[in-house]
Amino acid sequence: MQTKQKRHVYKREIIMSKILDYANEIVPCQRNWDESYQIPEEEIKYITDVATIVPTKQQKSVFSLMVITNRQIINEIFEICYEKTDKFMTFKKNSQVRANLLLVWTSGPHPYSGQSLGLAVGISSSAAALAGVELGYKTGFCKCFVAPRARDLLEKYVGKLPGKEVPLMLGIGKPDENFDTRDVTIDGVLKAKKETNGTKNIPIHRLT
Ligand SMILES: Cc1cc2nc3c(=O)[nH]c(=O)nc-3n(C[C@H](O)[C@H](O)[C@H](O)COP(=O)(O)O)c2cc1C
Repeated sequence: MQTKQKRHVYKREIIMSKILDYANEIVPCQRNWDESYQIPEEEIKYITDVATIVPTKQQKSVFSLMVITNRQIINEIFEICYEKTDKFMTFKKNSQVRANLLLVWTSGPHPYSGQSLGLAVGISSSAAALAGVELGYKTGFCKCFVAPRARDLLEKYVGKLPGKEVPLMLGIGKPDENFDTRDVTIDGVLKAKKETNGTKNIPIHRLT
């Protein structure tokens, strides 16, 4: 009995440290990739299963998921990943989207928008990123893109999308080992170095 209990505690500790490690891993935004690497199809399925199985409010299909590995399409998307006003010279800098696997969340078919859509996409993308690091990959989120152009571009390949919004993108893949996480590269060539945004301090109120 004693041994069984000990084993249980030990196992629980391993699980707890794993999820914490994964949470830490998805914080830095990976900005360079071994662009020639291909993620095996069963791993892509694993990540997309996780991203689409996590709950949405009333289990409505509030988003669609674009699962992109085609390098030409990724290149096209990369071109529109910049701040519309581009005060911070973000054009061709959001290289997190140049990953081996690019996930793009779009709205619909269920017509949620704004905050309700954002909540669902947040839960889904976070789960997808955790699944990605569990498989040994790096991740990079991207909100900084011209959404209507992203939608037009995607519609060119998949036909009319059910909704108008494109809330988020997430790159997952194998980093380029020649660079640091925050080095912005295009196909192995260094283009910029990004500073970290540092750490945050989320208040936790423990009520007992
Ligand atoms: C929802 C979400 C959207 C993000 N969008 C962008 C983005 O558009 N551009 C960007 O450079 N980083 C983006 N990031 C990455 C974060 O800025 C990054 O994870 C955070 O700053 C920590 O990494 P750092 O230490 O490299 O700064 C996003 C992260 C999240 C969670």
